[in-house]
Amino acid sequence: MKICVIYDTKRKNGATVHIVKWIQEALTDAKAEVDLRSWDKVDDFDYDLFIVGSPIYWERPLKSVLNFLSENRAKLADKKVVIFIVCMANLFGHFTDEYIDKRYLKPLEENISDSVVEKAVFRGWLKKPNHNERRKVIKWARELIEMELRSNGQRR
Ligand SMILES: Cc1cc2nc3c(=O)[nH]c(=O)nc-3n(C[C@H](O)[C@H](O)[C@H](O)COP(=O)(O)O)c2cc1C
Repeated sequence: MKICVIYDTKRKNGATVHIVKWIQEALTDAKAEVDLRSWDKVDDFDYDLFIVGSPIYWERPLKSVLNFLSENRAKLADKKVVIFIVCMANLFGHFTDEYIDKRYLKPLEENISDSVVEKAVFRGWLKKPNHNERRKVIKWARELIEMELRSNGQRR
């Protein structure tokens, strides 16, 4: 299975970069072929699955990622797309779920029509890496690929 993980970041060593590398690690362990691409380095859409993520700054996903999705809407229309965000609002517990869904995830979803098959919210950080999040990200990526393999009727 060929997977492209696409992201943008404001910090070269920030949470989003850690998280996409953890996703890549878990998917590669599960024998997927994974390309990690900054949004402006995507020139090929020949993948089985796209995983597209953005950190949240000032209450919204990065414009670069929103623009990438809207500009490539037609190319992604018949593809499977997973979106994720990295934010800190989820520090305040589950009562923020609805807010996160509406304010942070919806703007990304609105730019991809019906192709979104899964979404995830990961917790970022300001200074010190949150290594607890690693376990969660790896587990999520493993479950994602299991789900994909099942839906494609493939066996590992
Ligand atoms: C200036 C600034 C604004 C932020 N605004 C939000 C926000 O509106 N909502 C939120 O949940 N997190 C917010 N955060 C937290 C970031 O989403 C979090 O730090 C994340 O790790 C940033 O991604 P990065 O580490 O890849 O840069 C903000 C962080 C900064 C520094």
